[in-house]
Amino acid sequence: MLILNKTAGVFSKPSKRKVYEFLRSFNIYPGTQFLHKLVLGIETSCDDTAAAVVDETGNVLGEAIHSQTEVHLKTGGIIPPVAQQLHRENIQRIVQEALSASRIFPSELSAIATTIKPGLALSLGVGLSFSLQLVDQLKKPFIPIHHMEAHALTIRLTNKVEFPFLVLLISGGHCLLALVRGVSDFLLLGKSLDIAPGDMLDKVARRLSLIRHPECSTMSGGKAVEHLAKQGNRFNFDIKPPLQRAKNCDFSFSGLQHVIDKIIMQKEKEEGIEKGQILSSAADIAAAVQHTAACHIAKRTHRAILFCKQRNLLSQSNAVLVVSGGVASNLYIRKALEIVTNATQCTLLCPPPRLCTDNGIMIAWNGIERLRAGLGILHNIEGVRYEP
Ligand code: KG4
Ligand code: ZN
Repeated sequence: MLILNKTAGVFSKPSKRKVYEFLRSFNIYPGTQFLHKLVLGIETSCDDTAAAVVDETGNVLGEAIHSQTEVHLKTGGIIPPVAQQLHRENIQRIVQEALSASRIFPSELSAIATTIKPGLALSLGVGLSFSLQLVDQLKKPFIPIHHMEAHALTIRLTNKVEFPFLVLLISGGHCLLALVRGVSDFLLLGKSLDIAPGDMLDKVARRLSLIRHPECSTMSGGKAVEHLAKQGNRFNFDIKPPLQRAKNCDFSFSGLQHVIDKIIMQKEKEEGIEKGQILSSAADIAAAVQHTAACHIAKRTHRAILFCKQRNLLSQSNAVLVVSGGVASNLYIRKALEIVTNATQCTLLCPPPRLCTDNGIMIAWNGIERLRAGLGILHNIEGVRYEP
């Protein structure tokens, strides 16, 4: 019997009949033979329902994703039961689409890999419950995946990167610096003490009502800030980067958010406008917040590189810094990181944008990495739980 924790327990599992119907819906493609290992990856940790089939050489045979961003933009943030419902409505279709696109029969899979931590409990529960049903029906091994580790290892699917390397994950939900020493050997060097940079940028964008700005209405908060910042002058505000004296590699973004909040309030008074209207100084504020966040991220990363090099944890001449997550698509922040890597003789690598954000490919690829290393492959799924 599957032992799921309380929150997962309330969620109804797909019936056996439904799973059989689902499996029967696949056509067999005679003559298709896969010599490589094949892994189906399933991701539902936050607000994307995603699945993909990846082979041992890094070929993506099929993928599908359903993004909930549009719904959550309207409500001004993720409401967990809404995210759960949307995962429930989409998971079967998304897995089916990924498998169909890959033109394989489910029996050809070597294993099924699914994110089990960290994430929203209600969201993780949907992916795990669906996966365990599939594992049970197909009699395949199950590989539980750590979402952050999957982000960190994605670069090895696109580039030839050997261990150890440094990884910086910056998104709406993540902010961490870690040394990756092996498939499941991570040394955490720093993390955000409060919110993630993408979360901060989203809050600032919301406070500036950028969704009403004609050029930004369809953009995420971070993207809107980057877009407007190009038209602004950061020197109109003097903001100090956070944690300047902290002798570690941690991050903090909520103080910066509050400073920006105060500036916006002051400007609203000066310009005589109501909350919700767009300030004439919005672009200058966007430029200032982007610059301060970029400086902070670059300085903490610089410390981490120096620390690793001093202790011979990274190669002196061949070190690699991988930057991933939604915020990594910000070209101003990348430029700041480039200055740091050039100064420390490191190579800066970023996965392509579609692999920087949450996706099923990174989960399937982590499954492949684990299969190859013989790590964390479960033949008995009893007691598997998710960890929010
Ligand atoms: O990785 P992601 O898609 O989702 C998670 O948070 O896991 O990242 C989304 C975050 C959002 O906060 C969004 O505002 C931010 O990444 N983002 C950006 C840019 N594009 C997306 N932040 C700064 N500059 C961008 N161009
Ligand atoms: Zn993520």
